[in-house]
Amino acid sequence: MSTEAFQQCINPDCRSTYAVDEVLFACSGCGSLLDVGYDWDKVPVPDSLSFFAKRWASSGRSLESRADYSGVWRFRELLPFARLSDLATIGEGRTTLQQVDAIARRLGMKSGSLFFQYEGFNPSGSFKDNGMAAAFTVARMLNRKRVACASTGNTSASMAMFASVLSESSDKAVQAIVFVGSGKIAYGKLSQALDYGATTLQIAGDFDACMRNVADVAEKLKIYLMNSVNPFRLEGQKTIMYRVLEGLSWEVPDWIIVPGGNLGNSSAFGKAFAELHQLGLIDRIPRIAIINAAGANTLCTLVNEYQLEWQEGRIESAVIDEHYSRHKESGWRAQTIASAIEIGRPVNLTKALRTLHCTNGLVRQIDDETILEHKALIGRHGYGCEPASAASLAGLRLLRDEGVIGTDERVVCILTGHSLKDPDATVGYHTGIDTKAVQWPKPSTPAGSLANQPISVGDDLDEICRVIESTRSDPRN
Ligand code: F0G
Repeated sequence: MSTEAFQQCINPDCRSTYAVDEVLFACSGCGSLLDVGYDWDKVPVPDSLSFFAKRWASSGRSLESRADYSGVWRFRELLPFARLSDLATIGEGRTTLQQVDAIARRLGMKSGSLFFQYEGFNPSGSFKDNGMAAAFTVARMLNRKRVACASTGNTSASMAMFASVLSESSDKAVQAIVFVGSGKIAYGKLSQALDYGATTLQIAGDFDACMRNVADVAEKLKIYLMNSVNPFRLEGQKTIMYRVLEGLSWEVPDWIIVPGGNLGNSSAFGKAFAELHQLGLIDRIPRIAIINAAGANTLCTLVNEYQLEWQEGRIESAVIDEHYSRHKESGWRAQTIASAIEIGRPVNLTKALRTLHCTNGLVRQIDDETILEHKALIGRHGYGCEPASAASLAGLRLLRDEGVIGTDERVVCILTGHSLKDPDATVGYHTGIDTKAVQWPKPSTPAGSLANQPISVGDDLDEICRVIESTRSDPRN
């Protein structure tokens, strides 16, 4: 465990600090989110970012080589909360920046101005592996044997994969428990959680119901929570930005465009740039554009309609509460074809406001049809991504149309997940078949010896806890 790292409340009027090994997902004083903070004076940070690039070609089985091979731990001096021997890795983050001139031209931009950071190349097929490497490192340091998350699919796929790969021996076995909204998850992602052996709870509700339940269950049953309220997850996700800079020979782009769901990436990216700037490793901070789906537009509405701002951490929480009350009264629920970002109550809302503040960022929303058009455009050019990821390119088009982004500004769109995550959306787009109309049929008894059926559970805390406890003796785990 590192002595330079600590957890710290993001509320400037509180700023309580906690040790790295305290298991908390909010400040116990004021309830705000926590950051991982560092005493940078005590950390041997290299003078220049180019130091990290030489680790890229590392191979071999030593602890150091394995850490160097990881696109997360290659940058370990910039997230120094664990010792080398603690680091969990499955080979995540070996993703690179792709220059996409043909698409740039279609958007009236100059060659060399548009790039995709293609996170679909991660082992589980999405950017989540960056954060899981960090969160699993902490889970192992704390010797936690059960981990849980609520998910629209990718977090659960990634968590299930890490748990399964890292359970190399019975003393290291970790049970992955995933909460997914019934009928709310693309089959590509569900298939991963089942195949990797996760205990999969199909909650009668949406992502927001899953998130509420998993937080309560984690506390009640002492299960380690792996959602992005876990501040260590975001430390891993900072490295996506380091790799973007690496792909640009350490030059800072003008814009980063990222889809916004639970707002973990947006929060992590802002923190990454703020720290690099503070450390003198970059001389300016790019602007970050966060793109919501129109059917899941909480951040966009709060920022653009209700002028909600970071205000040095003194956020007007009444504005947020009133907005959620309106949702409740009207029965509004997030709904979008981009199921990965179908989230009404993003847990990292306040950190995303901080990112918008420190990057001079902005938020936009995109309707489903436009998301699918841009997904098809990305696919036609050979990259392929799931619908949520395409919100980034659709956001760029909108910002070009608005005249906010110029022809020769350097823009990086984050492609968060692989196209094979949600083939239904792709087939639906290309054939006109409404795959969404196919609700999950009641499964018959599967024949396979390793069949891992999801368990249907009500939106009910006691029932969920009972079911989880009954899976402890499950031979799968
Ligand atoms: N893109 C994809 C492919 C995602 O899976 C997610 C989030 C996002 C974008 C949004 O990222 O939450 O950091 O704003 N998926 C989560 C999940 C919620 O459960 O897999 P965010």
